[in-house]
Amino acid sequence: MKPSISDNKNIHDLLEQLSVKYANSGQDLEHYLKGLLEANFEPYWDYINLESLLALQHPKTDHPDELIFIAYHQYSELFLKLILHELKQAAFKINLDAAYLNERVVRINRYVESLAHSFDIMIDGMEREQFLKFRMALLPASGFQSAQYRFVELGLTNIENLLHVDHRNKDAKLSLLELLDKLYWRQGAIDTKSGEKTLTLKQFEAYYDIRFERFVTKYRKTNLYQLFLNLKEAGKANQSLIDNMRLLDYNLNVNWRLAHFKSAIKYLKQKNQAVAATGGTNWTEYLPPRFQKVIAFPSLWTDQEKEEWGKKWVLEQINP
Ligand code: HEM
Repeated sequence: MKPSISDNKNIHDLLEQLSVKYANSGQDLEHYLKGLLEANFEPYWDYINLESLLALQHPKTDHPDELIFIAYHQYSELFLKLILHELKQAAFKINLDAAYLNERVVRINRYVESLAHSFDIMIDGMEREQFLKFRMALLPASGFQSAQYRFVELGLTNIENLLHVDHRNKDAKLSLLELLDKLYWRQGAIDTKSGEKTLTLKQFEAYYDIRFERFVTKYRKTNLYQLFLNLKEAGKANQSLIDNMRLLDYNLNVNWRLAHFKSAIKYLKQKNQAVAATGGTNWTEYLPPRFQKVIAFPSLWTDQEKEEWGKKWVLEQINP
């Protein structure tokens, strides 16, 4: 027997709500219902665009491990996208409070932890000989050029906290363009031999600089740190939020960076000598957190903790 909807109140209510929704947009619900009658049911693979997703890996060489390298970078970019999604929701939330902010921070921590823990896929999951060969085919590309990574940094904190250490905590009032020019990573990408900007940096600047400027303008007052500082006193004293923000700073700016640094050591360090990286930075000096000292939420750390940024991890490696 066919199911009857004539006395199903839920369906009547839903049709009523739909007709109001469509009428409000000047649309005729009846036409859309006819469209529904014609439409196919969408399967899983179409819903998540599986075929497009699986067609996005194009190794440049025949070394099989290059697929792992490309797929893991794509996986990382997807998680960075989710982090940005959370930052955006917090930034534009009306009547933001500590509980809401805390929930976003907890989610972001989950994503960053997932990235830091899975980095073994890079560190241990590829043959070094293959890596050293296929990397030559991707010059001058480098994860350094991950714009989403930079957007995450700029969405988490004030640009002043992302300047090269030599320019940080100075009294001089700098314009936005001057601040952008002094970002730590721009200063880090100086060719080790010529002392000039690397091609990797020049490409990155030409393609993304306008977007970085726009992003900072948008998030100047609504980055996560600023949102926290602007909470009412009780919100700023919320211990769970403070703990989770500290965890986030550590997860991203120590744990992820060190996991990543470990991969560079594994593949690019050869008997007391460093192999040049694809992005051309002096990576042994540039990548370690204790030199970069990128700290997103500085007021949540003691002077000693800031001084010893990244040191705990090194000790844990020595005395596991
Ligand atoms: C075997 C794997 C990897 C190695 C050996 C490696 C190596 C490097 C090196 C040497 C740099 C310094 C810039 C340069 O001169 O090229 C760098 C920067 C960077 N890489 Fe990787 N990388 C690896 C995987 C990844 C992955 C999977 C991501 C994820 C998106 C990534 C993201 C980044 C980012 C964001 C930077 C800039 C870091 C900063 O400015 O502090 N890398 N990488």
